[in-house]
Amino acid sequence: MTAMNREEIESLQRQIVAEIAGASDGSTLEAARVKYLGRKGVVTALMSSLKEAAPAERPELGRLLNALKQAVQDALDTRRKQLDNVSSAASESFDFTLPGEWREIGMAHPIHALIERATEIFRSIGFTVADGPDIETVRNNFDALNTPEDHPSRDPSDTFYLENGDLLRCQTSPVQVRYMEAHPPPVRIIAPGRCYRRDTPDATHSANFHQIEGLYVDRQVSLADLKGDLTYFARQLFGPGVRIRFRPHFFPFTEPSVEVDASCHVCGGQGCRVCKESGWIEIAGAGMVHPNVFRAVGYERHQVVGYAFGMGIERMAMILFGVPDIRLLYENDLRYLRQFASGV
Ligand code: PHE
Repeated sequence: MTAMNREEIESLQRQIVAEIAGASDGSTLEAARVKYLGRKGVVTALMSSLKEAAPAERPELGRLLNALKQAVQDALDTRRKQLDNVSSAASESFDFTLPGEWREIGMAHPIHALIERATEIFRSIGFTVADGPDIETVRNNFDALNTPEDHPSRDPSDTFYLENGDLLRCQTSPVQVRYMEAHPPPVRIIAPGRCYRRDTPDATHSANFHQIEGLYVDRQVSLADLKGDLTYFARQLFGPGVRIRFRPHFFPFTEPSVEVDASCHVCGGQGCRVCKESGWIEIAGAGMVHPNVFRAVGYERHQVVGYAFGMGIERMAMILFGVPDIRLLYENDLRYLRQFASGV
């Protein structure tokens, strides 16, 4: 081999280093080592050609060839380390004997699931969903709903008042007021949401609970529509064959007013533990919208009538899921709540 000049050696060095850096596995790398640094390797041959160089050029050429050899050796070492790392990382993360990683699958809380299901049912017969804030004015929660000044529910021992005179709504009925004030008739809405009452918590009472309000206002709406719609709803939710009955009642914002019972879906009306031997389960308060409510929201000129109802969600959830104590729904013990993952 004849002597090379500086450029040629440096160019060869770049080429070899690049080739080694690109070696894709251990055997390719070993082949490169043999090819360049082996006994008959390219670099080895160059080194032994040194003695044939002109004496004046030898020191400079020797320095360049040593640098070349060192660079090739360094490149081999570096690439070897990289390939070792990759293979050990690969073998660590591919232990096929390990069980898979378990990820918890989230689920809806039974209250939420029931609201979703109820919403779905009412949507299927033309209701849309409305909502309102938890913090309400006395006017929306009481005055516009025709509630007399001396009605017990206004008492601070029943309802939570804020310092500014507003309150935490004790029912979803104020959404009726808000909706009618914002939309001309006809109206066909449901409004699910939280309610608050100063009740002492026990097996059937919670200071915080949920209702679904319903409101249907048009030229011709009657109690028969209410009965038909709630029968449809109850049959979808509890099962076919469920009957609905009305019992006379009183609410300030409806006239006439009723309490609505569904026949017990467990015993079919015979009497059992779920329905406390009565054969019936109360599911809602309801009635025909009182003219004073239409007056308060500016609807009197429309010559409309309407029905309204309010259903207690917790009550319905307890019946449907067989929950004996309302507090179980709020303690967030996942072992308990998980049972209802696909309950509705
Ligand atoms: N707001 C009533 C309650 O909380 C329920 C209701 C709603 C009754 C609509 C009649 C009409 O008890």
